[in-house]
Amino acid sequence: MKIWIMAGAAIMAVGMTGAAVAQDVIAQRREGLRGMGRQMEAIKAVTDARGDTRPLVERVDAMITFYRGLPAMFPAGSGTGDTRALPTIWSDRAGFEQANANMVTQLGALRTAAASGDVAATTAAFNQTGATCGACHRPYRGPAR
Ligand code: HEC
Repeated sequence: MKIWIMAGAAIMAVGMTGAAVAQDVIAQRREGLRGMGRQMEAIKAVTDARGDTRPLVERVDAMITFYRGLPAMFPAGSGTGDTRALPTIWSDRAGFEQANANMVTQLGALRTAAASGDVAATTAAFNQTGATCGACHRPYRGPAR
């Protein structure tokens, strides 16, 4: 890689590779976030039906794992292309990472509620979880295009 960069003539090619990597990470995070939407729908189906919340712990764990890795899916340079990511993600990185940390914390509360088997507590934690998704989307996600 170093040799190519030093080769000067290859700078164009390196730049294009960077753009391709950004498009890959955009596709990857969007797919992951769609998966989070599906997880939330599946959880809601159980609370709406007043079903057994305990098996939901596994879903919540998968969500926690995803959100722990979310900031890394927004590297510098991945704000243009087929994405709704707003420039504020990079201009206010601390705020973005705080919104994500709040998500992980809230999912911990949802996990505790689900594990207890208490439907009312799980429903309340679920609603709070939805609000926490929105608290990141409002400042950091642009309108659908
Ligand atoms: C820390 C910020 C943050 C949190 C927390 C967050 N999101 Fe998002 N979400 C984003 C951003 C930014 C995008 C736009 C990504 C893109 O277009 O590159 C997005 C996009 C999405 C999309 C659209 C994916 C697509 O392109 O089809 C869905 C669905 C979604 N989020 C669901 C959720 C759900 C459900 C939660 C809560 C469980 C959540 N998000 C929490 C920042 C966040």
